[in-house]
Amino acid sequence: MKRINIAIDGYSGCGKSTLAKDLAGALNYTFIDSGAMFRGLTHYCIRHGIDMYDAGAIAELIQNRPSIVFDSKSNHLLLNGIDVETQIRNDQKVVSSVSFVAAVPHVRTYLKELQQEYIANKGVVMDGRDIGTVIMPDAELKVFVTATIEERVFRRLQQLKGQGESVTEEEVKTNLVERDRADANRSAAPLKKALNSVCFDTTNFTRESQLEAILSIARPKIDPEKYLPFIQ
Ligand code: CDP
Repeated sequence: MKRINIAIDGYSGCGKSTLAKDLAGALNYTFIDSGAMFRGLTHYCIRHGIDMYDAGAIAELIQNRPSIVFDSKSNHLLLNGIDVETQIRNDQKVVSSVSFVAAVPHVRTYLKELQQEYIANKGVVMDGRDIGTVIMPDAELKVFVTATIEERVFRRLQQLKGQGESVTEEEVKTNLVERDRADANRSAAPLKKALNSVCFDTTNFTRESQLEAILSIARPKIDPEKYLPFIQ
């Protein structure tokens, strides 16, 4: 059996990370949440009092090369060795600023360097916005995930409420729509479907059924001998 890399891209809050995490668990692969790395860098900028609209100041600050590590044992983000998972998910300043920080070319260059360190040995499932187009253009399987805006708002609201956060439906919707717009329209590595990716609308799928659907595409790529009679 060979080991492959799997790229999962798509819009905000459509379940990319859940799918990527479940796939990695089922295949015994490493899950990397690239969005957590952008959130971690945004948290770092906020802590240094940087104006989020000042791309020059952000670029200058990251010359310090802060350590940004996605720990695939805990699935938490470590910034300079400190676990900042709660801050990057729940701090509304991070949530509302991350797409500005992610549009800065220096930020993308720095994180691309770190993200590509993970993929050399194969067996990686990474989710984000530019994974199939820029970070792992050679990934053996690329999935572009979508879901209706109503379903995405519902899922994110459930997730935040489960964590005891008090946010309104309108706030969640506005944030998802604005991040999608910013991510799809920036000039540096915009969110777009890789030409050779599988488009997957998860709106009516349960967590288990979406995992099964993508595993059924991944398995023949991992073990072609076994599936040859079916794909000829
Ligand atoms: O979980 P959710 O889909 O809401 O977002 P995320 O994956 O944690 O990503 C947060 C933000 O980071 C996105 O809205 C993008 O602005 C940025 N991002 C990016 O530009 N490129 C990536 N590969 C991953 C995230």
